[in-house]
Amino acid sequence: MIRAALVLAAGIVVGCGRPALAPEAARAEAQKIWNERCAACHGVHGRGDGAGAKLLPVKPRNFGDGQWQRDVTDARIAGVIVEGGRSVGLDSNMAANPDLGKKPEVVTALVELIRAL
Ligand code: HEC
Repeated sequence: MIRAALVLAAGIVVGCGRPALAPEAARAEAQKIWNERCAACHGVHGRGDGAGAKLLPVKPRNFGDGQWQRDVTDARIAGVIVEGGRSVGLDSNMAANPDLGKKPEVVTALVELIRAL
């Protein structure tokens, strides 16, 4: 009974009959991931000033830097998120997020989020 109610509630949340992760749902998940996993180092607004950044030997950059935004490709941002910093020669404190490898639409939404910082 409770299980049925949860399934029904989940159906309402994702919008009845649409694919489980509609773009809005992916954006919402990306925002949640940003707040929970990324902001600790990168800061809520991506300025590289999260509370954890103080402890890092290599500081995260300011994602609001226009020059960086122009130079970096979406593919590189997505790659760093899924494969981690080490995959492109950056610091290993930028951890991989292998679970997101199965959620390309959420990675795309994270890239969009970073592009808007
Ligand atoms: C433990 C701290 C930490 C967390 C948590 C973290 N990062 Fe990072 N991130 C870093 C550091 C440090 C670098 C810079 C590495 C370097 O310049 O060598 C980095 C680099 C990056 C880059 C590459 C920037 C460039 O210069 O190309 C992206 C994109 C990025 N992070 C996104 C994210 C996202 C999205 C999340 C959450 C899923 C996240 N990071 C979580 C510390 C962190």
